[in-house]
Amino acid sequence: MSGRVLITGASSGLGRALALAYRQAGWQVWGCGRDAGRLAELAVAGVTPLRFDGRDGSATAAAAVGLPPLDLLILNAGSCEYIKDAHHFDGALFAQVIETNLVATGHALAAFLPLLGKGSRLAIVGSAVSWLPLPQAEAYGASKAGLDYLAASLCLDLRGIGIGVTLIRPGFIDTPLTARNHFPMPCLLPVDEAARQILKGLAAGRDQIHFPLRFIGLLRLLGALPVGIWLRLARHLT
Ligand SMILES: NC(=O)c1ccc[n+]([C@@H]2O[C@H](COP(=O)([O-])OP(=O)(O)OC[C@H]3O[C@@H](n4cnc5c(N)ncnc54)[C@H](OP(=O)(O)O)[C@@H]3O)[C@@H](O)[C@H]2O)c1
Repeated sequence: MSGRVLITGASSGLGRALALAYRQAGWQVWGCGRDAGRLAELAVAGVTPLRFDGRDGSATAAAAVGLPPLDLLILNAGSCEYIKDAHHFDGALFAQVIETNLVATGHALAAFLPLLGKGSRLAIVGSAVSWLPLPQAEAYGASKAGLDYLAASLCLDLRGIGIGVTLIRPGFIDTPLTARNHFPMPCLLPVDEAARQILKGLAAGRDQIHFPLRFIGLLRLLGALPVGIWLRLARHLT
């Protein structure tokens, strides 16, 4: 199957791998981002670049003007910053992460959802982090937990008009975002393998895609424990 897909955050990491994989599968692909150089590289591979800052609602709306109807919309753009000192909470950093990961998703929905119709699909890239509270993840985890609720609610509201909604919750993937991490990342997945699993799940019309299963299983198990037990177990992480 091929069609038309628009992917946000396509200039790097997971979004780039998704854009190239869909292109290779014969899809017409629009790839969004801010970095002009990396978007130009994508254009060479046949991906139509759309350059805008997702936190700017007007710029996002302008990017949608003149686009044709889409079969698939993948809202993937995001960033990860850690709250290093919760006692002296960095409110500006918190706002920045929420704006990039959650508020910008709202701007993208306003701009691009009208391009989806009956039989099409919206996919939102959340994270496995929202299964378990992790240290220093106050901003990133809250933004991704917000996306979980957003996707679940959209699923209820869009099914009546025949638009499917998929929430993608990956574990660690080897991308520039995780290259900055200085802690162990269990089951770190190559980015092309992550893209392959997402393409497969979306082709099957799955409402939830999460991987790698061994890591997700562990997070879900720990997340299901009484909170006191997790607090004790997590002591060595802080
Ligand atoms: N890597 C992981 O382990 C992992 C795990 C779970 C979930 N995720 C999620 O997967 C998604 C992609 O992450 P990644 O690992 O591929 O990170 P990445 O390599 O850093 O790529 C992030 C992408 O988001 C775009 N972006 C960020 N802020 C933006 C803004 N204000 N406006 C427009 N575009 C913006 C970037 O565009 P520019 O560079 O052009 O600005 C880039 O294309 C994120 O939502 C992330 O939370 C990643």
